[in-house]
Amino acid sequence: MPEILGLSGSLRRASVNSMLLRAASQLAPAGTTIEIASIRGIPLYDGDVEEAEGIPPTVQELKRRIAATDGLLIVTPEYNNSIPGVLKNAIDWLSRPPEDIRSVFGARPVAIIGATPGQGSTALAQTAWLPVLRTLGTVPWFGSRVMVSNADEVFDSEGKIIDEKTRKRLEAFINGFAAFVSERRG
Ligand code: FNR
Repeated sequence: MPEILGLSGSLRRASVNSMLLRAASQLAPAGTTIEIASIRGIPLYDGDVEEAEGIPPTVQELKRRIAATDGLLIVTPEYNNSIPGVLKNAIDWLSRPPEDIRSVFGARPVAIIGATPGQGSTALAQTAWLPVLRTLGTVPWFGSRVMVSNADEVFDSEGKIIDEKTRKRLEAFINGFAAFVSERRG
């Protein structure tokens, strides 16, 4: 059974990106599961720490989970028209040491979605991820896009999608990505 691992790029309790990830996991088609992982607890990257202590346990565990999954779903906020530092920092740690990049990210199907309470839709953040995905040797899926603007009107206070158009778009996206992941797995 194909398994997708989802990562939200926000640590905020009421994060709209974490809401989007939870909604995506609930919309996974029969036969596919979307497990939710977290970047919480990953320290700031420090080459001296890496040299003295090696890879932090939180990073090792997440590397293990990504290496074991069939596909990675990254749910990105947009900060200052680009990638949020906390999520980039996590991916940077996950790319250490370089010898492991191939087993963690190489040829791994990856899809990106994102949400913002503003008008910008995370289009710029999603685009900013592309060179990172290329550098890591992933196989990005570009079959459709989910870029949520005005997130406050899309989710209710419990994080449920109340905007039907967004729900349908997310469902189609997840179906498409799940099919891609299954195909590559087979
Ligand atoms: C933002 N936000 C934001 N939104 C956006 O659409 N484009 C942007 O460039 C930025 N820039 C930005 C910078 C910084 C430092 C912060 C803290 C925020 C707003 C952002 O989309 C909003 O805080 C979201 O709620 C963040 O996502 P989560 O935490 O709700 O998932």
